Amino acid sequence: MIKVAIVGFGGIAQAAHMPGYVELEKEGKAKLVAVCDVDPTRFDAKLEINLASATDTLPDTVKRYTDWQEMLDNEEIDMVDLCVPTFLHADLTVALLERGVNVLCEKPMSLSSTDCRRMCEAAKNSGKQLMIGQCIRFCDHYTYLKEAVADGRFGKVKGGIFRRLSTPPVWGWENWFMDYDRSHGCVLDLHIHDVDFAQYAFGLPMTVSCTTADITSGRDIAHSTLHYNDFALTVIGDWSQEGLPFTAEYRIAFEKATVDYSNDKVTVYPRGGEAFSPELDNTSFYVKEIRYFVDSLETGAENTKNKPESAAASVGLIEALCTSADNDGQPVTI
Ligand SMILES: NC(=O)c1ccc[n+]([C@@H]2O[C@H](COP(=O)([O-])OP(=O)(O)OC[C@H]3O[C@@H](n4cnc5c(N)ncnc54)[C@H](O)[C@@H]3O)[C@@H](O)[C@H]2O)c1
Repeated sequence: MIKVAIVGFGGIAQAAHMPGYVELEKEGKAKLVAVCDVDPTRFDAKLEINLASATDTLPDTVKRYTDWQEMLDNEEIDMVDLCVPTFLHADLTVALLERGVNVLCEKPMSLSSTDCRRMCEAAKNSGKQLMIGQCIRFCDHYTYLKEAVADGRFGKVKGGIFRRLSTPPVWGWENWFMDYDRSHGCVLDLHIHDVDFAQYAFGLPMTVSCTTADITSGRDIAHSTLHYNDFALTVIGDWSQEGLPFTAEYRIAFEKATVDYSNDKVTVYPRGGEAFSPELDNTSFYVKEIRYFVDSLETGAENTKNKPESAAASVGLIEALCTSADNDGQPVTI
């Protein structure tokens, strides 16, 4: 069993990661031994975020710390699941790898490509494993699309749209999501899910362009275009939609069909044929993501799905989108 500590016991740790370890302990794969948070009131909170709410409080058997170094001095830990705010990802990941633990770090990898390189270097030098929580790579509704692109079952891609819309994330510690210097706004935090998935499924675009709008956090709305050789993808991220439910969708046109994901369901609309919905596994993609990393630690299998260098490339794409946005949406070559 891999012994795990969560560092940063806020929204995503409570709503998605802790339930993941309940499941993985049942499977005999991983055990949550300790959690660390600078704010001890978080240990007994049940936070609600845009996607879900915590369903359970932290069991008494899990040790609680407010200092991660003290935690590692006292506990035997194989892996830290790092769920702190984004501006802390790089320094903490590097320090944890240097301390000799494997790290699963939440997305986005960090605020800059320079920091991402530092994290990749630290992983190489330490000999420990680092994976970034680009969770959409583990969502069957999206991997169905990746497989359709790869095997050409519907012909060539002709174009498409990805959308991710949310109420503003105001549950964060010290309201860090709304502080551009700490989060880089929606364009990095929320938009990276679809930009990362696009580069995972379709490869790196040739050029990108983007327009962003400020409401509270500097870049709360991002409208991007990823230009490929013979098609383009429109990607929309918007966390300004106060009062509205969270939605994530895509609609991709192929030569022979359109593939739609909306209302938690994938539907294929063949040109001139009957629409159908493939049977897909609806279980939590956070569990699948954590299971994948834990299995790679247990078996030594290479992480081929989600290398840190690939997550770093997505941060690089977001930087290019911001450069475009700062230049009236002019295309930026990748
Ligand atoms: N994969 C997803 O779908 C998803 C969804 C939401 C958030 N996230 C990402 O997860 C990360 C955390 O987001 P969140 O919503 O949980 O934020 P949050 O503010 O709710 O939680 C962060 C926690 O870290 C704690 N913290 C701050 N500094 C610390 C330190 N030095 N040591 C230990 N704890 C510390 C805070 O007290 C807080 O409880 C962010 O990078 C965010 O982008 C990912």
